[in-house]
Amino acid sequence: TTTTQVSRKSFPALKNDLILRCAKGEKVERPPCWIMRQAGRYLPEYHEVKDGRDFFECCRNPEIASELTIQPIRRYKNLIDAAIIFSDILVIPQAMGMEVVMLEGKGPHFPNPLRTEEDAIEILNYKVDVLQSLDWAFKAITMTRYRLDGEVPLFGFCGGPYTLLTYMIEGGGSKIFRFVKEWINSKPELSHRILDKISDVAIEFLSQQVVAGAQILQVFESWGGELGSSDFDEFSLPYLKKIATKVPIRLQELGIKEKIPMIVFSKGSWYALDKLCNSGYDCVSLDWLWDPKEAVKINNGRITLQGNLDPGVIYGTDEIIKSKVAKMISGFGGGKQHYIVNLGHGTHPFMDTEKIRVFLEECHKIGSQ
Ligand code: CP3
Repeated sequence: TTTTQVSRKSFPALKNDLILRCAKGEKVERPPCWIMRQAGRYLPEYHEVKDGRDFFECCRNPEIASELTIQPIRRYKNLIDAAIIFSDILVIPQAMGMEVVMLEGKGPHFPNPLRTEEDAIEILNYKVDVLQSLDWAFKAITMTRYRLDGEVPLFGFCGGPYTLLTYMIEGGGSKIFRFVKEWINSKPELSHRILDKISDVAIEFLSQQVVAGAQILQVFESWGGELGSSDFDEFSLPYLKKIATKVPIRLQELGIKEKIPMIVFSKGSWYALDKLCNSGYDCVSLDWLWDPKEAVKINNGRITLQGNLDPGVIYGTDEIIKSKVAKMISGFGGGKQHYIVNLGHGTHPFMDTEKIRVFLEECHKIGSQ
């Protein structure tokens, strides 16, 4: 821990701490802005650097991962207030022994998903050495901190336990989630055991990302909204809470003294907002189904909210993008406290980089008023 403390201190000084102050609940001059999946396929420079390489090979190469992380910061200079390390939520299933490949144009694919109780015993590694198996992720974060040169804070992240269990059982994306629903409704105890183990790996992974240099954390529970309210309370929320509770404890053990803000994004879990506001996170990220005013009312000043423009608005005219930005920011109370600008979900590969600029510039303009 002594050496990690020294290396944290030797990082370039942070020039823009807006998102850190905001996530901690402080009043700010304007709302910080960043975009989920701000790196990636809508950027021509992403394709140039990726150059036909395998997606996970790019994640595991610190030089490439840090370059891809910084690309949107460079392109949208002074418009984006945080970087997010280029990686994927599926690196935890990989660390637990599962093979995951990224199929071009199709998304993630697990050749051997968990389907039976025997699979859970034979395929899964329950004793993960996080520092060793994900060492490339920590190297990428440390290198990125130096290369960012203090321009903006760097996010570390991981997937939510239920979302990861879903991928591990379904073997990829799904519309009806037949297999994971079969599991939680026929093998609830086994499901809980695996969810708990995923949470333990996530806690160590997030904590070590901070040791490596991450300054703020987000947990992506992208399939949270596929659960009904009571199943969410049973199979998602307890594990999200466990992560929020245990990461700060682990960080203390690791000698990290400052508070590291934590954000949770549970897409589609509209019924759970009140509970998520009390779940130990500093910020809850909202998808676009929320009316900002209603979310603000439910939150009632407890924590910071993040979001939530429909990513589809980016396909619109400049005028309509601008008017929807204005409506969003005023719905969140003007953006001088408890609000971080984002889309309600990630970018798409088809988006126009200049429309993203219109969105960001308008957020700065309206948010500064
Ligand atoms: O800018 C960033 O946000 C950087 C890093 C990042 C990626 N994935 C890069 C990526 C992050 C934070 C993620 C998180 C992630 N990955 C989530 C949670 C967010 C969400 O969208 O709900 C999920 C569900 C995944 C799993 C995943 N990875 C999927 C479903 C896909 C296919 C996406 C698609 O649109 O086809 C990926 C691949 C992936 N992850 C790409 C990138 C840039 C595309 C890879 C490529 O083909 O070049």
